[in-house]
Amino acid sequence: MKKIAVFVSGGGSNLQSLIDSVDSGHIKGAVIEVVFSDRESAYGLERARRHSIAALHLSPAGFFDREAFDRKIADEMNLLGVSLVCLAGYMRILTKAFIDTFKGVIMNIHPALLPKYGGAGMYGRHVHEAVIAAGESESGCTVHFVDYGTDTGPVILQKSVPVEEGDTPESLAKKVLALEHEAYPEAVKLWAEERIKTEGSKVIITE
Ligand code: GRF
Repeated sequence: MKKIAVFVSGGGSNLQSLIDSVDSGHIKGAVIEVVFSDRESAYGLERARRHSIAALHLSPAGFFDREAFDRKIADEMNLLGVSLVCLAGYMRILTKAFIDTFKGVIMNIHPALLPKYGGAGMYGRHVHEAVIAAGESESGCTVHFVDYGTDTGPVILQKSVPVEEGDTPESLAKKVLALEHEAYPEAVKLWAEERIKTEGSKVIITE
């Protein structure tokens, strides 16, 4: 069984969609070994406990710097034998210390159609506000591998939804989140089936 770690800082509805997909057998050959959070109060940790998944919390406060914190997390993940890290609303930007250890096997989900509306400051409500302000006719979500940039790594899959007359950041966020709950399990399923190949910045999905 391949072991997955899911990193959360908040509610963890994407985490829940991954848990459900493993439980239902939609994702085969992999288990969620651990849920990690930098915030003790993250509801995602509670979701893990309810499903008898190890819930690990570490506070960045006790560490010398961001690299030291990330090195500790990378060590913990290695000890647990984790081979895929899924960021699901993890609100810290990973440093080189972590990415070097897990390069090519860190996924993230972003609530927009990257490369549009990604990068510094583009999270949560800010994303949907910007999409509406720009008069976009569609938005969506992107699952991608994490590289050294912010929201810049190879795209695994995207799903889109129309932006309709009268949409607010809240209504758009809701529509996009529903898509995220389909997209993330789909991407992880492809990974578990070893159907994702990366060539430079391009992802190829094999049959
Ligand atoms: C999602 O919108 C995701 O795209 C972004 O953070 C949010 C996390 O939501 N990276 P949840 O905690 O999974 O409900």
